[in-house]
Amino acid sequence: MPKLKFSNGDYCDQIGLGTWKSKPGVVGKAIESALELGYRHIDCAAIYLNEREIGEAIQQCIKRGIVKREELWITSKLWNNAHRREEVLPALKKTLADLKLDYLDLYLIHWPVAIKNSILNATLPEDYLPLSEVPVSETWQGMEAAKKQGLTRHIGVSNFSQKKLAGLLENCTEKPEVNQVELHPYLQQNELLQFCHAQGILMTAYSPLGSADRSEGMKRPDEPDLFADPVIQSIAKKHNATTAQILIAWHVHRGTAVIPKSVSPVRQKENLAAAAVKLDEADRNAIHKLDRHYRFITGKFFEIPGNGYVAIYDE
Ligand SMILES: NC(=O)c1ccc[n+]([C@@H]2O[C@H](COP(=O)([O-])OP(=O)(O)OC[C@H]3O[C@@H](n4cnc5c(N)ncnc54)[C@H](OP(=O)(O)O)[C@@H]3O)[C@@H](O)[C@H]2O)c1
Repeated sequence: MPKLKFSNGDYCDQIGLGTWKSKPGVVGKAIESALELGYRHIDCAAIYLNEREIGEAIQQCIKRGIVKREELWITSKLWNNAHRREEVLPALKKTLADLKLDYLDLYLIHWPVAIKNSILNATLPEDYLPLSEVPVSETWQGMEAAKKQGLTRHIGVSNFSQKKLAGLLENCTEKPEVNQVELHPYLQQNELLQFCHAQGILMTAYSPLGSADRSEGMKRPDEPDLFADPVIQSIAKKHNATTAQILIAWHVHRGTAVIPKSVSPVRQKENLAAAAVKLDEADRNAIHKLDRHYRFITGKFFEIPGNGYVAIYDE
């Protein structure tokens, strides 16, 4: 399995397993099958509301001798309602208790969006806290403290634009080590990738398959389908691979991590086997031309008139 190298010498598998929308009663079995198949990198988040079951499944696999804790790479994310400096450690400790872990491998600020601590899903403008009141740099101080205390080995961000990253880089002691964002052939974000790599920030690609199982309310009627793309399909045919494997292998070649979500052991196996698919220059050039700046996760759900959040991805 190809790996990403961190500046302290730590490694993380480039292909990991996503867990958003992996439901209670299903997610535990999905984690067990993934670990049995050889996944060692699991992407979690407090707001996915499934970390307890994931923790149980990890414990079971450790007990059964499938995997050792030190072989795993477990990422989780700080939810928007714990952005004040003093709220970060309690939120991380809750995630660690749910996951039954002593430490995370990577902890990310999930979104550059702050909401009140008493609220889980903000719906009203007054549920939000403007970044002028709770700046990302304040949240980052909590992240740095978490790393210092050994509660997480690495810290980073998610859904950060180049502008927001640049702002944070000017106001931090420790640099963010990862930026996890939506990446696939229709949203290649080449400039952001170049910027991150120039700054020594690694990237993780989310929704690499187009996130088809998200709620209808998050979808547009005319949304494109990566699986139906004739260029991806013809590259798949050429390599005797599946379209999902081409979509995943492309990130491995680009030097990012990629975290396709699947609860099906058959598809998990297929996705992990993408590590063996070697794209050539012609494939990469053809995929390069598919970019159309199309976001499946628009972030618009955070842009409520009057809450102070506009153009989350560009500001
Ligand atoms: N940081 C963030 O804000 C953020 C946002 C979005 C996602 N993420 C992370 O990224 C992960 C992946 O993104 P995502 O869940 O949005 O979507 P995704 O991985 O692009 O797509 C998941 C969908 O693809 C299906 N699928 C998986 N493998 C397949 C295959 N080989 N062939 C056909 N269909 C396949 C899954 O169904 P089955 O499960 O039935 O196989 C599911 O319906 C998330 O789970 C989460 O961990 C992070």
